[in-house]
Amino acid sequence: MAQMREMMYEGKAKQVFATDDPTLAIIHYKDDATAFNGLKKGTIVGKGVINNVVSNHLMTLLKEHGVESHLVEQLSERDTLVRRVQIVPIEVIVRNIAAGSLSKRIGYPEGTKLKSTVLEYCYKNDDLGDPMINETHIAAMGLATKEEMDDIASMALKVNEVLTDYLKDLNIELIDFKLEFGRFDGRIVLADEISPDTCRFWDSKTGEKLDKDRFRRDLGDVEEAYQEILHRLMGGEKK
Ligand code: TMP
Ligand code: ASP
Repeated sequence: MAQMREMMYEGKAKQVFATDDPTLAIIHYKDDATAFNGLKKGTIVGKGVINNVVSNHLMTLLKEHGVESHLVEQLSERDTLVRRVQIVPIEVIVRNIAAGSLSKRIGYPEGTKLKSTVLEYCYKNDDLGDPMINETHIAAMGLATKEEMDDIASMALKVNEVLTDYLKDLNIELIDFKLEFGRFDGRIVLADEISPDTCRFWDSKTGEKLDKDRFRRDLGDVEEAYQEILHRLMGGEKK
């Protein structure tokens, strides 16, 4: 098995370690939570364990539907072996229902159904606060090629289709989510995580928020919401 080496990178919610195999890395999920570009800080007890399991579960499902990711195998409660990708410095946001920053920007009340899926790109740069950019900026800045952006967009829409259908059966509405992609072996693969930190999940019946908005907005029962998502995904249970 790949042996863990030095820490290569520490983000707000995860650490990434090198291994003795240069093509592999280990992600370690923390309980630390931040919001508003690090302005708000806190801990969500057990979040790291839940996000590790949830993200791996969803990436395994996506693989079954032909979406390749960095996932190799889960090593422990908080650690996962992944392909060592070069991250494309773009956050890809997919939206089905207006919420969050989109609601603010276009004045649609949260929960307004969108006539078609919205794709947004943000430049991954904390100093600039991850500003929204479009495909012409991406080309002008040389962040990714046209071919890579075609792959990224079609993969993001496929992820949306697969996850929306899957979550619907668990009475979870997929409002929006954020993806990151990486380059591995000349291909684009899904990277980072897919979890209640990076998605908006609303209970289909009650509209209750089951994601990081509970932390961002001080709604309470944060840990319980993460637990509920884990429970529904792993139990496959309908409520
Ligand atoms: P937004 O409405 O704040 O732009 O967020 C859209 C989606 O992206 C939402 O599901 C939360 C997720 N997201 C992240 O994963 N990381 C971030 O830094 C931000 C701002 C949003
Ligand atoms: N994780 C991001 C930050 O700290 C934003 C968010 O998820 O709301 O700032």
